[in-house]
Amino acid sequence: MSALHALSTAPVAHAGLDLARIRADFPILRQRVHGKPLVYLDNAASAQRPKAVIDAISECYSTYYANIHRGVHLLSERSTAAYEGAREKVRAFLNAASVQEIIFTRSTTESINLVASSFGGSMVKAGDEIVITGMEHHSNIVPWQLLCERTGATLKVVPFTDAGELILEEYERLLDSGRVKLVAVVHLSNALGTINPVKFMIELAHARGIPVLVDGAQSVPHLAVDVRVLDCEFYAFSSHKLYGPSGVGVLYGKQALLEAMPPYQGGGDMIRLVTFEKTEYADLPNKFEAGTPNIAGVIGLGAALDWLNAIGLDAVAAHEHELLDYATALLQQIPGLSIMGTARDKAALAAFTLQGVHPHDIGTILDREGVAIRAGHHCAQPVMQRYGVPATARASFAVYNTRDEVDALVKALWKVKELFE
Ligand code: ALA
Repeated sequence: MSALHALSTAPVAHAGLDLARIRADFPILRQRVHGKPLVYLDNAASAQRPKAVIDAISECYSTYYANIHRGVHLLSERSTAAYEGAREKVRAFLNAASVQEIIFTRSTTESINLVASSFGGSMVKAGDEIVITGMEHHSNIVPWQLLCERTGATLKVVPFTDAGELILEEYERLLDSGRVKLVAVVHLSNALGTINPVKFMIELAHARGIPVLVDGAQSVPHLAVDVRVLDCEFYAFSSHKLYGPSGVGVLYGKQALLEAMPPYQGGGDMIRLVTFEKTEYADLPNKFEAGTPNIAGVIGLGAALDWLNAIGLDAVAAHEHELLDYATALLQQIPGLSIMGTARDKAALAAFTLQGVHPHDIGTILDREGVAIRAGHHCAQPVMQRYGVPATARASFAVYNTRDEVDALVKALWKVKELFE
């Protein structure tokens, strides 16, 4: 404990962030679990929602909810305006050129499956290659494996160093085969915290005429993203890691590509004209939004973006960076603890193992201390295989976390050590 106590300080927020006020926006953070104040450090799995988001959803259902794009009545018009208003907020958040480039889905997973099915199904043939990296989440591996099985294409994987940094010479070598049809790369690794140099990787791919999809599920809550600066063809993310409701995802795609791609699913709202002989599809973005969407969820995502924009992602990133540096310094003082993922460009999370203790035991003991972390393979089994471990424990940060909470994490980890000694 002495090391912790020596370093422990009063809670300090990054200059400009009123942490007390930010925390007051989250009703769920006020509770105690197992008699201890909740310390929520499982934000990479899902962040919590501020009251503004809960209120926006409640207001929708309480006062104006109806199906969208269909009714001539007032409630439907109000719901449509709020839903399409959220699309404009997402466009502005990503700095996309047009709302037609913003498709609402269920999740990052569905966004990637949409591209694998629609772009992949129409553009990828036997003998082609899809390039991913060794640090992808399963949702950016399995859709491409399914595509490869369907088409006879091959999956190629960019390796990474012990520190968790992609080996870019290998990436370039893979791009040079002349057979690559698409690169799909994670922006911020959920298992390592590595921020990949996606802008540079996109430039390398474009120099060879190869389009790029970026999995932004973990990056959008922590880094400002500008899809026109990145120049990626596709960018996918989920609402639930971004302080919005679960069950909503976003796919950004360049308009010309989305226009050329066939629909992903057929159904209501994605058509212009249906006869038994032939169907004409709706224009973007409706062409890719078959069926009644998660209307209140999308509106909730819009409220989450308003809330986050009021704080500013640069201030969020600076605060979380301080937390990560502070946590890393304390964790490194625990004998037997190894941090997995020490890339120079890293954000938002610390994944680790503790010699002689299974990560699930760490997670369970921490839970009794009120500290919620994730233990497991983090839906990134190839990353675990790369390091030869079955699982890790992972503490992941959000804008509302404090140094006091990092202290609580580290104190609980010293307790784990005492129990297992
Ligand atoms: N992919 C999410 C995580 O990393 C669920 O925990």
